[in-house]
Amino acid sequence: MKDAITDILRVEIEDGIGLICLNKPPVNALGVALRTAIHAAYGTLRDDPAVKAIVLYGEGRFFSAGADIKDFGKADLQPTLPQVLKALQDSDKPVVTALHGVAFGGALELALATHLRVGLNGLRIALPEVRLGLLPGAGGAQRLPRLTGIAAAIDIICSGREVGAQEALGLGIIDRLADGSPREAGLAAARDILAGRLTPRQTDRLSAGEDPQAVEAARQRLTAKRPALLAPLKALEAVTAASLPIEEGLARERALFMELMQGEERAGLVHAFFAERATSKIPESTAPLRLIEQVAVIGGGTMGVGIATSLLIAGYRVQLIEAQGERLPAVRAAIEANLAGALKRGKLTANGHGDALLGFSCGEALEAAANADLVIEAIFEDISAKTELFARLDRICKTGAILASNTSYLDVNLIAEATSRPADVIGLHFFSPAHIMRLLEVVVADRTAPDCVSTAFALARRLGKVPVRAGVCDGFIGNRILTQYRRAAEYLLLDGASFEEIDSALEEFGFAMGPFAVSDLAGLDVAKATRDRKAATRPPDERYSRVADLICAQGWYGRKTGRGYYIYDKAAPRRANPDVLAIIDDERRVLGITARAFSNQEIVDRCLTAMIAEAVRVIEEGVALRPVDVDAVELFGYGFPRHRGGPMFQADRIGLPVLIDRIERFSREDPQFWRVPELLRRMAQAGEGFAPMNDQPLSTTEKRN
Ligand code: CAA
Repeated sequence: MKDAITDILRVEIEDGIGLICLNKPPVNALGVALRTAIHAAYGTLRDDPAVKAIVLYGEGRFFSAGADIKDFGKADLQPTLPQVLKALQDSDKPVVTALHGVAFGGALELALATHLRVGLNGLRIALPEVRLGLLPGAGGAQRLPRLTGIAAAIDIICSGREVGAQEALGLGIIDRLADGSPREAGLAAARDILAGRLTPRQTDRLSAGEDPQAVEAARQRLTAKRPALLAPLKALEAVTAASLPIEEGLARERALFMELMQGEERAGLVHAFFAERATSKIPESTAPLRLIEQVAVIGGGTMGVGIATSLLIAGYRVQLIEAQGERLPAVRAAIEANLAGALKRGKLTANGHGDALLGFSCGEALEAAANADLVIEAIFEDISAKTELFARLDRICKTGAILASNTSYLDVNLIAEATSRPADVIGLHFFSPAHIMRLLEVVVADRTAPDCVSTAFALARRLGKVPVRAGVCDGFIGNRILTQYRRAAEYLLLDGASFEEIDSALEEFGFAMGPFAVSDLAGLDVAKATRDRKAATRPPDERYSRVADLICAQGWYGRKTGRGYYIYDKAAPRRANPDVLAIIDDERRVLGITARAFSNQEIVDRCLTAMIAEAVRVIEEGVALRPVDVDAVELFGYGFPRHRGGPMFQADRIGLPVLIDRIERFSREDPQFWRVPELLRRMAQAGEGFAPMNDQPLSTTEKRN
């Protein structure tokens, strides 16, 4: 056979060894085209008497990211992955896979079906299907346990976690570790097989044994999780089927896989996967980047310290400036504690930790920002303080430096206008704790330069964050939606639901914490300060719940004072504060409200609909570029349950006409709060959904009208 090259696969023969090289950038995804090519190449090599062994390897940064996730939910075109894998598994000629970089999902399943696996140092493998609402459906749940035993396979498959090369070798998932190129490592292994120095095995002929104890322990662990997701439980069932004869196990696994493929959990999680990546597609993405090496962070509070930590972990040099000099030792101690935590969690190597400490300095004088390429202001939320600070920075900072504000509400245009260089001013809204939370709202003011925006996005990616482009308005994307979500929850509370019922309904939906538990955690005084700031501009016809103010008046600010909506002590993790229940009863009496019951469904419907309605306005006004940007903000900054995909994804699932009906029904009680956004009405009339809007990026100024 002659060497053959297609645009996605290369086949060659060397010393009687057939080599199949996957070459489909960016990630060698195993869509139908690559599956067909592998199947055909294998068939040709199998039928060539000159070929004694076959090696599969990948071109590019890694072997393969597995199945093509874009195909999920579409018809499964032939040859399917199980069909290709069966052919490889049944081969009379030994088949070797040489894995480098990453072998995830279907790619690892492919390797498991071959007869010997070589891992290149640095390899990471995983069966991450549960993170996409699926289970390994191409034999992975049958073959992995045949190599590792049931308990280790449950751990890997039900968590979807990554396994490093050394661990994979120890568990018997790979047979050999090698250095060099995957092609050479694969060839060497094939030569060793042909010379009798290595023994290939058909995984299907091995036994997984049984491990009822491990299965039961995992079942209990997974059902106790909140939210208890379907995919890990079904994955457990699939691994359990590895104790059956292989054909029965494979059939059971495939049936479970197909069931999950049709489910809502899969749809939501796949949307979240693409949302995380889609937000980087912005109108400014082709603008050149400014060089950022030295960053000054102004303000040594929780936010400033978290932002500085995040920058140090990513390898930037950071100068933290705190005007109150006596706070500097505490600031340094907090940074050191954060970096020690990052080292412990594996976010930093020992060397990286040393470099981060060396890269940090702090002081009182603002003049130290003179050489910074980027300044991030993280002082308290006061517009005069911020404009004054930016005017000073304007005088101090070098030409070309980016001046960023970490404001979470305030007008970035006003801040920019306080300088003589508004094109260099941008909002970088981090979320607390800033070295952990993944969302970064990049707030683009009217005169912000495109290269400032592209640089902010590049910075965010280096920090490991999910950057989302937002326009200027009070609260940007996230806090604006949060305000309406919270208002819906507060009105439910006044009208008869208890805060425990509301929290537990939303936790059942999938939020880690309901809105009242979150308030207690964030500090009731923090939300009060925001309410006070907005009091003067609150519309006179807006319904206002005084409950939170009345709780604050008692000096109860939530967890930090041991009491808020809940009482926090050693006796119980959280129990309702009876005095707050009395405050709510009194308030209902004062307002003449007769409390009524709300089902969990109605609680969720109201809170979610309030979020969606505000999100539609945010899109309509061009504050968010696309619906998917809103989803990313909610998923990565506000704890929206990942398997629900985000509010705009939910809007499509619920249906636009249903949402309009709901809002119109609720608006009979409170027409000021419940209003149908124009865009929603127009789209419903046209029979449209939000998903197609994600593929049409807007220009920076366009609005949805
Ligand atoms: N299918 C389709 N597209 C994929 C993909 C996949 N499996 N993996 C990544 N991509 C796309 C990304 O969406 C991105 O596209 P855009 O540039 O258009 O945004 C591009 O490839 C590059 O991806 P990343 O930006 O994520 O690149 P990275 O270098 O940071 O990370 C990676 C690479 C580690 C492989 C990461 O992309 C990843 O973890 N991918 C998911 C892998 C996965 O979950 N595989 C299992 C799929 S399920 C399966 O395989 C079993 C089955 O049969 C159903």
